[in-house]
Amino acid sequence: MKAIAIEPGTTNVALIDVDEPQVSAPDEVKIKMLQVGICGTDREEVSGGRADVPPGEKKLIIGHEMFGQVVDTGSAVTKVKKGDYGVFMVRRGCGQCKACLAGRSDMCYTGAYTERGIKGANGFQAQYVVDKERYLVKVPAEIKEIGVLTEPMSVAAKAIDEALIIQKARLQDFEKEESWLEGKKALVAGIGAIGLMAAFALRLRGATVVGLDVVDEGTRRPQLLKKIGGTYVDGRSVPVTSLDEVCGEVDFIFEATGVAEIEFELIDVLGTNGIYVATGIPGGNRPLTLEDASLMKQLVLKNGVMLGSVNASLHHFEVAVEDLAACLEKWPDEIRAVITERILYENFDAALHNHSADEIKVTVQWSEPDEQLHT
Ligand code: BGC
Repeated sequence: MKAIAIEPGTTNVALIDVDEPQVSAPDEVKIKMLQVGICGTDREEVSGGRADVPPGEKKLIIGHEMFGQVVDTGSAVTKVKKGDYGVFMVRRGCGQCKACLAGRSDMCYTGAYTERGIKGANGFQAQYVVDKERYLVKVPAEIKEIGVLTEPMSVAAKAIDEALIIQKARLQDFEKEESWLEGKKALVAGIGAIGLMAAFALRLRGATVVGLDVVDEGTRRPQLLKKIGGTYVDGRSVPVTSLDEVCGEVDFIFEATGVAEIEFELIDVLGTNGIYVATGIPGGNRPLTLEDASLMKQLVLKNGVMLGSVNASLHHFEVAVEDLAACLEKWPDEIRAVITERILYENFDAALHNHSADEIKVTVQWSEPDEQLHT
């Protein structure tokens, strides 16, 4: 079968031939790939950045945002049957720490986890994949056109969930409401695919959303944000440290810029008892210059919380599937519009390298859904 592989540390990426994987244990599921999304991590990998091959191998098959259709199951599999749609999660636990042993490899203590398509395990940019049922999340056929957004939505779902758990615990004496986000003001910094996923999720949870980016307001991403009820601020005309003068202080910040300097400066706009979750993974090692001590002073004097969030658990993937279904009901055209291009796998180069300001989610198309599989 065909797969897209890189040689980590180089810019060599190619379509290669590898053996088609087969179900070889009772708890395994084989999936025929339909689409695989491209994200910043993939682009970092193909430009020679962060990526590790599986032990003993020279190449890494990339891809971690998959969506496919079940073609074979081991005898013990109950979650899905042939013809069903689903995605495999990204991370596999270290098998040693208590987080991984409890099924929460997204919180792994040792760092000895693997991630399919990123760290020490082959990914999903291939015609077929096989993995354990416990890493599989079933996606209902009703949302198959946007099923490929499950993984990026799971990253947003985890980050928001973490923040809500913390807020619920520390503000319980006076913030009684079930949903802390209802009526709160949230800032989404960076309205690329992850930021927009967060904007959808935050709107679903009743928050007012302000999006920050550095593109013209008339372009696709700000317009999409506005269609789901958000407002847009162009960071080129409003410096981050003056943001609060334009949109007021915010209760929640979802950061998805991956620009370290902005990540720090955003503390300035966080309101009293607010929470700030960073999901962008900055690259490079340029020194940062921070004006003075005021950011940390504000964080302390306003009881701010700043946390990082990466990856997602099975629960967050399930929440992501529910959120996508809710989006398809509430904003069908808008959630569909997140997928801006579907590129055939033979043209993978275009998917990996073309990157316009109007692009949101580009997917690599491996095959079409097969209705016959159900029979
Ligand atoms: C993926 C996560 C992964 C992270 C770190 C992101 O692009 O969506 O699943 O944990 O990269 O490697």
